[in-house]
Amino acid sequence: MSTENKNEKMEAIVSLAKRRGFIYQGSEVYGGLSGTWDYGPLGVTLKRNIMNLWWNYFVDSRDDMYGVDAAILMNQKVWQASGHVDTFTDPLVEDLVTHRRYRADHLVKDAGYEATGLTNAELNDLIMDKGIKSPDGNELSSVRSFNMMFRTFVGPMQGDELSVGKPIDEHQGKLSADLEGMKAVTYDPASVSYLRPETAQGIFTNYKNVLDAFYPDLPFGLAQLGKAFRNEISPRDFIFRTREFEQMEIEYFVHPDKWQESFEALLADIHTFLDMLGLPKDMVHELEVPEADRAHYSKRTIDIEFDFPIGREELLGLAYRTDFDLGNIQREAGKSMEYTIKGTTEKFIPHVIEPSFGVERALMAVLSSAYTEDEVNGEKRVFLKFPEHLAPVKYAVSPLLKNKPELVAKAREVYNMLKKKHGNVMWDDNGNIGKRYRRQDEIGTPYCVVIDFDTLEDDTVTVRDRDTTEQKRITLEDLASQ
Ligand code: GAP
Repeated sequence: MSTENKNEKMEAIVSLAKRRGFIYQGSEVYGGLSGTWDYGPLGVTLKRNIMNLWWNYFVDSRDDMYGVDAAILMNQKVWQASGHVDTFTDPLVEDLVTHRRYRADHLVKDAGYEATGLTNAELNDLIMDKGIKSPDGNELSSVRSFNMMFRTFVGPMQGDELSVGKPIDEHQGKLSADLEGMKAVTYDPASVSYLRPETAQGIFTNYKNVLDAFYPDLPFGLAQLGKAFRNEISPRDFIFRTREFEQMEIEYFVHPDKWQESFEALLADIHTFLDMLGLPKDMVHELEVPEADRAHYSKRTIDIEFDFPIGREELLGLAYRTDFDLGNIQREAGKSMEYTIKGTTEKFIPHVIEPSFGVERALMAVLSSAYTEDEVNGEKRVFLKFPEHLAPVKYAVSPLLKNKPELVAKAREVYNMLKKKHGNVMWDDNGNIGKRYRRQDEIGTPYCVVIDFDTLEDDTVTVRDRDTTEQKRITLEDLASQ
């Protein structure tokens, strides 16, 4: 696919996502907030379907997994011990004229050079040697590290005159004075906290609690899904790189000598799950991450990449985190994180395998592999070929004519019957049948059920298949048992 076509496909998906109520720019009504996205009625259902499928496959259907749901705000010591305060950084450069800021490795990559794993000094050298400029063609500053955690303060600050609770108009015309005033605001360093940049630490900090309550045999895993926040220097590519997103993570605790077998088993489980998302196997790739490019805690990482319309990019990661995190907690919190093998005196800090999924990237992969264009009766048709279990709407129910009360009443009966059974069923009597089919195709509804005059006679309905556009007549009894 040419770059132009790739961008066209991305644009088509972004536009459909907005038009049909999947995904909107965050705070759009006020001009937006970069790196944030809101989910409309269909988007939230699609996203939940993905998250529920994950939870169901990795937690509910297994005996070796336990769920947790930790607070987003955590004691600052968590992020000091984990290394995030010191090392969770991206390389930042500034356009010396416009003062816009960019990720140095992105600019280098966009200029056609390899940038992964380069230090700030190496990026600097490359920028100088190759004469790389900002997107506006200006000179760049030297590269420095920018910490991506959102910092906040827990509890009221001393001298906090610029209360967030004040109505906006109270600030009109005196914003600069207020900002000036803010410099004088003092805070207790102990009140500093961060919006969590990964859900993983909320799992590690609860490992001992779950161990004490359940004492599971090794290996076992703790799973969590929820929001994570990163102050990305340049959020981009729709929901691919955002400042607020959701993760689905597992920390799988293993005997240090047996990490390889769990690593391989989880890798196989990941592929099964990606299959369940309907991602074509030939678009999913494993990348063995070289040591220089791995996170500071990892001894082995496989990135699962996907052929997104924007190119081949990371979808999720599988990392061998050793005893890095539990070891840090034991040292910094002074509490034992050791596991004793039942009936023995063998004691050790378990090692950890971590499959870490980003929900938005999974959603973007699902959307882009579902997006299909074909031709029906000489006309272009766009449809989302979601697997049935992910489709936000499973059935759309329509009376053939909306001005015939007997058809409407029968259609309502069928709608209620399906709604009770499946939940995600839509009533659709807008426009003619052709228009309804096109609309339902665009939101990926697998089946459209139409109630016509024959239904009143023989209790049969037409069911139209999204992918083949074939229409079949089946009895209401058969429809109810589907
Ligand atoms: N606990 C390990 C961890 O957080 P990561 O590679 O930094 O590892 C895991 O993130 C996954 O989270 C990524 O593979 C990606 O799917 C998702 N992710 C990370 N940053 C993201 C961002 N800014 N926007 C959307 N998804 C993101």
